[in-house]
Amino acid sequence: MKKLVIAIDGPAGAGKSTVAQIVARKMGYVYIDTGAMYRAVTWLALRQNLTVKDAAAVGDLAAGAVIELTYAAGKLVVLVNGEDVTGPIRTPEVTGLVAEISQILPVREAMLVLQRNMAAKGGVVMDGRDIASRVLPNADVKVFLTASIEERARRRWKELLDKGYTVDLEELKREIADRDRKDYEREYAPLIQTEDAVLVDTTAMSIEAAVDEILKICEEKSGGI
Ligand code: DC
Repeated sequence: MKKLVIAIDGPAGAGKSTVAQIVARKMGYVYIDTGAMYRAVTWLALRQNLTVKDAAAVGDLAAGAVIELTYAAGKLVVLVNGEDVTGPIRTPEVTGLVAEISQILPVREAMLVLQRNMAAKGGVVMDGRDIASRVLPNADVKVFLTASIEERARRRWKELLDKGYTVDLEELKREIADRDRKDYEREYAPLIQTEDAVLVDTTAMSIEAAVDEILKICEEKSGGI
């Protein structure tokens, strides 16, 4: 059976990584979280006290960084230059800066090379913002996964609550709207639903239903999984 290349794009909080991971597991494919890669670069930049104003230096940092996505006990582990940054890349500091760091062209170019290499052998599910439009324009399956902003904020709120954090839902909604705006409006490789992508709106859909829908599309493409 041909090993497919599956691209899943969409805005923050749409459930991409959860859905993509399950799809990858069910198909025996590798899951590549490109957001984690931009987060890793942002974490490196923060550690060196660099900001978006230091675009060239951050670009060099990205080009020189060894970013590895590995798995331990079924969970994604992100290594940067050998250091485990799985937890640190999800802090509010990184989340607050990542949409800006990922606007820097040399950063995007460095990630593009890494991401294409990671997908070269096929059998991958890659999620992000520009996967179908730029990183893997020849992907076999392209999905644009989205949900209303209210629903995305509510999910994040619930996720944080489950981790023991109480946050203001309206504040969360503003943060997501701000990240959406930066992702959609940026100059290089903005978030876009390509014409050949299938829209999956998960506002009123369970994770299982979204997974099933994507698996069905994959089955049609490969003539049976
Ligand atoms: O999926 P995420 O929330 O972890 O992504 C974090 C940020 O990384 C997101 O706000 C924009 C950026 N990103 C990107 O520019 N291109 C991608 N392919 C993936 C993420």
